[in-house]
Amino acid sequence: MKILITGGAGFIGGNFVHYMLKEHKEYDIVCVDALTYAGNLETLKPVMDNLKFKFIKADITDRREIYKIFEVENPDIVVNFAAESHVDRSIEDSEIFLRTNVMGTQVLLDACKKYGTRRYHQVSTDEVYGDLPLGRIDLFFTEETPIHTSSPYSASKASADLLVQAYHRTHKLPVTISRCSNNYGPYHFPEKLIPLMISNVLNRKPLPVYGKGENVRDWLYVEDHCRAIDLIIHSGKVGEVYNIGGHNERTNLEVVKTIIKELDASEDLITYVTDRAGHDLRYAIDPTKIYQELGWLPTTDFEEGIKRTITWYLNNKKWWEHIINGEYQTYYEKMYKDR
Ligand code: NAD
Ligand code: TYD
Repeated sequence: MKILITGGAGFIGGNFVHYMLKEHKEYDIVCVDALTYAGNLETLKPVMDNLKFKFIKADITDRREIYKIFEVENPDIVVNFAAESHVDRSIEDSEIFLRTNVMGTQVLLDACKKYGTRRYHQVSTDEVYGDLPLGRIDLFFTEETPIHTSSPYSASKASADLLVQAYHRTHKLPVTISRCSNNYGPYHFPEKLIPLMISNVLNRKPLPVYGKGENVRDWLYVEDHCRAIDLIIHSGKVGEVYNIGGHNERTNLEVVKTIIKELDASEDLITYVTDRAGHDLRYAIDPTKIYQELGWLPTTDFEEGIKRTITWYLNNKKWWEHIINGEYQTYYEKMYKDR
């Protein structure tokens, strides 16, 4: 069995590479990644010498290059993680989001069609459902919730999902889609809420909370996401969408205060800044379908997962200090100065 993983030098893709090499020692894993600002070969360093692993630097929008890779590698399964993934960046400039998330997906779908790949899996997001109101804890996203996007990021992910479903219906391509809630864990790029707050606390920098910090996200430890995708690509029904999430809803302020407490820091570091434009209020997943069909349930709750994540950031300072001392500093200045 050969699995081609795109975006494997990023946060979730990198964790998935590690997970699959550990869980399926007989599989060949090929990682294709363009190494954008979010891709980091340090994440894959522990497996670079593994004979069952191969890294190829390539852009999923480069049709010729991607076809060449399919020609040589002939993967059984393709799992597409490659994407521009940060909402705030999509608000600044959405062009690359459309190129990578939509056109890149199209190239991969065409490659799977051309080379007869047995399964294409699209890693999508709960953000395609838009948001839920605050204070309505009875409401959840199901697979039947209409697509209703808010940010250019979520619009690009929703477009890709529609394209994947169109290739299934029209070309009979064997596809599956998963829509997961917010992930956290090791190798998370420090522009996202949890790693940003951890690294800022460790550097005694202000903690920029958007608006009043009331927005709610449904946090999932990244390894639970990896296990869900592993189940879907092996046992999920072709043509189906699976929501992934585990009832770990927290307001942003609760998340930030938990991190502060775990690191024994002061809440004085919290700084309320201008809210994100179009800010989604609440995400919450109903995972009944994946539980009933595939027996998946999350195994790590937020209290345990956040402790493990903080420990990882304490033990792997070189990984993230290297990022925040590089060109990311320019982004940080631009996004947070005078906010
Ligand atoms: P990330 O930004 O950490 O990593 C993205 C990876 O894709 C990077 O390694 C980058 O180099 C690579 N990439 C970007 N453009 C590329 C291109 N044109 N060709 C090849 N590689 C390219 O993202 P992430 O947080 O790991 O998210 C992975 C996937 O999961 C995305 O599709 C995202 O939409 C989805 N998702 C993320 C979350 C989350 O909480 N982070 C939740 C649900 C779904
Ligand atoms: P983020 O990690 O960017 O994920 P997403 O927008 O895809 O859910 O943000 C999570 C939440 O944290 C979101 O409500 C925005 C908020 N947030 C802040 O309050 N401050 C920050 O500096 C960042 C990056 C996010």
